[in-house]
Amino acid sequence: MSLIRLAPFVILMLVMLGPPPAAAQSVSTLGELLKRHDSGSCEGCHEGIHKEWKSSFHGRSIVQSLGSLRAYIDAVEKERKLPADKTQMLKCLDCHAPMVNDASESVIKEIVGLVKTAVDDKDEAKKKAAREKLAGLSVNCTGCHTVKGTGNAMTPPDPKILYGPSGAPAPHPTKGSPVMQSSVMCSQCHSLWYAKDGEYLYCTTIFESHQNAYRGMDGTQTCQDCHMKSRGHTFPGAHDQQLVKEGLTLSLGAIGYRQMASGKYQPRVVVTVDVGNQAGHRIPDG
Ligand code: HEC
Ligand code: HEC
Ligand code: HEC
Ligand code: HEC
Ligand code: HEC
Repeated sequence: MSLIRLAPFVILMLVMLGPPPAAAQSVSTLGELLKRHDSGSCEGCHEGIHKEWKSSFHGRSIVQSLGSLRAYIDAVEKERKLPADKTQMLKCLDCHAPMVNDASESVIKEIVGLVKTAVDDKDEAKKKAAREKLAGLSVNCTGCHTVKGTGNAMTPPDPKILYGPSGAPAPHPTKGSPVMQSSVMCSQCHSLWYAKDGEYLYCTTIFESHQNAYRGMDGTQTCQDCHMKSRGHTFPGAHDQQLVKEGLTLSLGAIGYRQMASGKYQPRVVVTVDVGNQAGHRIPDG
C-alpha cells in the first residue's frame, strides 16, 4: 500500500532525474559476458564476502537447475516450436543468471548449446567443461549489485555502478540504493515473474507469502534482517539445519485414556503436535 502511495513521488523523481541511464551494451561472446561480470575481480578486496557467496545457493543457481533448464529448452523448441532465444530464455535466466540481460542473441545460442552439452553429451569431459563454464553465470556480485541494484525495471541500472546499502566511498563507483535493504530487492527473483509477452512464471512465491502472511500480519523484519544480518552472504535457506530449527517451534502433548472396545477397556492415547512457523513466509516454499 505504501508503495502505491509512493508511486507518484517515484514518477516525479524519475522526471526530475531525467532519462534513465542507457542499458548495458550487449556483449557478443560468452567469454566477454563472463569477464564483465567476473566475481573473481571482487575477491581481492572483499575476500570474506566472496567466500560466503561461493558457498551459497546463489553461487550455484545455474548448475543446480540444469536438468530443468534442459527440459524447458525442449518445451520451447519442440512443443511450442519457437526458437530458444533471449525472450524465451530470460523466462528462467533473468533470475537464475541475471547477467544474461547483457547478452546478445549469439551469446544466448552459446548458452543453450552449453546446457545441451552439459546434460546430453556422452563425453564426460565435455559435459564437465560445459558445466564449469555455465557455473560462471550464477547469481553473483554484479547480478545483485548492478543488474538488480535499482530494483525497478523503470530505472535501469547504470552498468558501471555497484549499488550498495550506503554508497560508501570505494575504489570503484558506488551508489546508495534504498532497495538494497528492502525486501523488494529479493522480490525481483523470489516471486512471480511476468514476461514481456504476458506469460508469467512461478518458481517461487516466497515474496507474496512474505507480504500477505507476514508483513500483512504485523511482521516487521525484511528478508535481509533474517537472512543476512549475522549471516552475511551465505544466504542459508531450507538446506540449513540451524535456520530450519529457528523457523519451527514444536510442542508435543499427549492424553491417555481408556475406551470400551470389544467388551474390554482398551488403553488409548491422543498425541497433539503443534508446529509453529517463525519464518517470515510460508514454509516450505513451492
Ligand atoms: C522470478 C525468478 C525465477 C524465474 C523466472 C525462474 N526461477 Fe527457478 N528458482 C527461482 C528461485 C528464487 C528459486 C529458489 C526457490 C527456493 O528455494 O525457495 C528457484 C528454484 C529453482 C529450481 C530448484 C533448484 C534447487 O536447488 O533444487 C529449479 C530446478 C528451477 N528453479 C528451474 C527454473 C527453470 C527451468 C525456469 C524457467 C522455466 C525457472 N526456474 C524460472 C527463481 C526463478
Ligand atoms: C543475492 C544478492 C547478492 C549477491 C549475490 C551479492 N550481494 Fe552483496 N549485498 C546484497 C545485499 C542485499 C546487501 C545489503 C545488505 C544489508 O545492508 O542489509 C549487500 C551488501 C554488500 C556489501 C556492503 C555491506 C557489507 O557486508 O560489507 C558489500 C561490500 C557487498 N555486498 C559485496 C558483494 C560481493 C563482493 C559479492 C560477490 C562475491 C556480493 N556482494 C554478492 C546482495 C547480494
Ligand atoms: C581495490 C579494492 C576493491 C575491489 C577490487 C572491489 N571493491 Fe568493492 N569496495 C571496496 C572498498 C574499500 C569499499 C568501501 C568499504 C566497504 O564497504 O567495504 C567497497 C564497497 C563496496 C560496496 C558497498 C557499497 C555501499 O553502498 O556500502 C559494494 C556493493 C561493493 N564494494 C561491491 C564490489 C564488487 C561487486 C566488486 C567486484 C566487481 C568490488 N566491490 C571490487 C574495495 C574494492
Ligand atoms: C537475481 C535473482 C536473485 C536475487 C536478487 C535474490 N535471489 Fe535468492 N536465489 C535466487 C535463485 C535462482 C536461487 C536458487 C538457487 C538454486 O537452488 O538453484 C536462490 C536461492 C536463495 C536461497 C536458498 C534457498 C534454499 O533452498 O536453501 C535463499 C535463502 C535466498 N535465495 C534468499 C535471498 C534473499 C534474502 C535475497 C535478497 C537479499 C535474494 N535471495 C535475492 C535468485 C535470487
Ligand atoms: C522472520 C524471519 C524471516 C524473514 C522476514 C524471511 N525469512 Fe526466509 N526463512 C526464514 C527461516 C527461519 C527459514 C527456514 C525455514 C525452512 O525453510 O524450514 C527461511 C527459509 C527461506 C527460504 C528457503 C525456503 C524453502 O523452503 O526452500 C528462502 C528461499 C527464503 N527464506 C527467502 C526469503 C525471502 C526472499 C524473504 C523476503 C521476501 C524472506 N525469506 C524473509 C526466516 C525469514
